[in-house]
Amino acid sequence: MGVLRRLRCSLSFLLSLAFISIARAALNVTTIPFQEGYSPLFSDFNIHPSPDGKSVNLNLNRYSGSGFVSSNLYNHGFYSADIKLPADYTAGVVVAFYTSNQDVFEKTHDELDIEFLGNVRGKEWRFQTNLYGNGSTNRGREERYFLWFDPTQDYHRYSILWTHQNVIFYVDDVPIREVVRSDDMGGDYPSKPMALYATIWDASNWATSGGKYKVNYKYEPFVAGFRDLSLQGCAVDPIEQIPNAECSEQTFELENADYAVVTPARRLPMNKFRQTYMYYSYCYDTVRYPIPPSECVVDPVLKKRFNNVGRVPNFSTRRRRQAKKSRVSSSNRFQNQVDV
Ligand SMILES: *[C@@H]1O[C@H](CO)[C@@H](O)[C@H](O)[C@H]1NC(C)=O
Ligand SMILES: *[C@@H]1O[C@H](CO)[C@@H](O)[C@H](O)[C@H]1NC(C)=O
Ligand SMILES: *[C@@H]1O[C@H](CO)[C@@H](O)[C@H](O)[C@H]1NC(C)=O
Repeated sequence: MGVLRRLRCSLSFLLSLAFISIARAALNVTTIPFQEGYSPLFSDFNIHPSPDGKSVNLNLNRYSGSGFVSSNLYNHGFYSADIKLPADYTAGVVVAFYTSNQDVFEKTHDELDIEFLGNVRGKEWRFQTNLYGNGSTNRGREERYFLWFDPTQDYHRYSILWTHQNVIFYVDDVPIREVVRSDDMGGDYPSKPMALYATIWDASNWATSGGKYKVNYKYEPFVAGFRDLSLQGCAVDPIEQIPNAECSEQTFELENADYAVVTPARRLPMNKFRQTYMYYSYCYDTVRYPIPPSECVVDPVLKKRFNNVGRVPNFSTRRRRQAKKSRVSSSNRFQNQVDV
């Protein structure tokens, strides 16, 4: 190994140490017990809350997946939970943590997604973030990433901040993606109150290598653990108050919260994460979007790496084989998503 190469290696080792130690500090959140703030979405028999309401397990077995939803919608909010994903063979399994108002606005819903995609044994979970507004389901804004830890070993905090100005996705206290609202986004930027959803389900036709590896029920049940669920923002009664809730006080608190801003100190680990662990971004997928949507902030370093097709060709031989050509998969909730 040349001196330069060695220097570069130890430098990136040091950087990753710094990155991880920054990631340790926790966000300051207040939690709502499961029984007080949430209700079953489907398959009660696969939902197992702890008696004190601090945690809840969602199971997927051969009969069904399961899910819960917050009892209120929030007119802008901070939605957050500690999550631990099922281990071993999880191909075809999707664990989703997302905000939506699909039950209220069927044709014009808004949505912010964190979706974990299972894998075959020995291969890492990956996850994606996405955003829809006013029913813009034909304009996916996916990014896909690996994690810097094994999400099946411990609980880690995953959070979605949504204000009028910006959306920030967090993993622990590292912001991994910020979308700053631009006027050109119009209705594509989520604008109506959203509830928090958490689900585990069988996405055999899509989740792992484009449907090549399916859920294997020999390994059931697949259990996703959720802990210390947190909701901050202006709670809106889904029936009575949409869409004119008075939210000024909570909005002020939310927009002035520590986590509502990507500070310079946080931008560093954010960029580091994106340069190291992101392997697909719609902003660099010129096959799909010849002109990047207006909210995209194109980083020349990433543009080069993403090779104009949105993905890194040889991301890591340990993790992935040669990336496939852009292909659009079809499934009900995931129409028009990339298959990578
Ligand atoms: C955490 O937030 C609460 C209220 O949201 C606040 O009273 C408290 O001082 C905060 N703690 C820290 C360490 O910032
Ligand atoms: C949302 O979509 C509806 C139906 O497609 C459309 O009439 C409306 O103008 C859109 N609103 C915004 C803010 O784009
Ligand atoms: C990717 O890996 C293949 C096979 O190992 C190699 O032939 C190709 O040159 C690599 N491409 C890049 C861009 O590194």
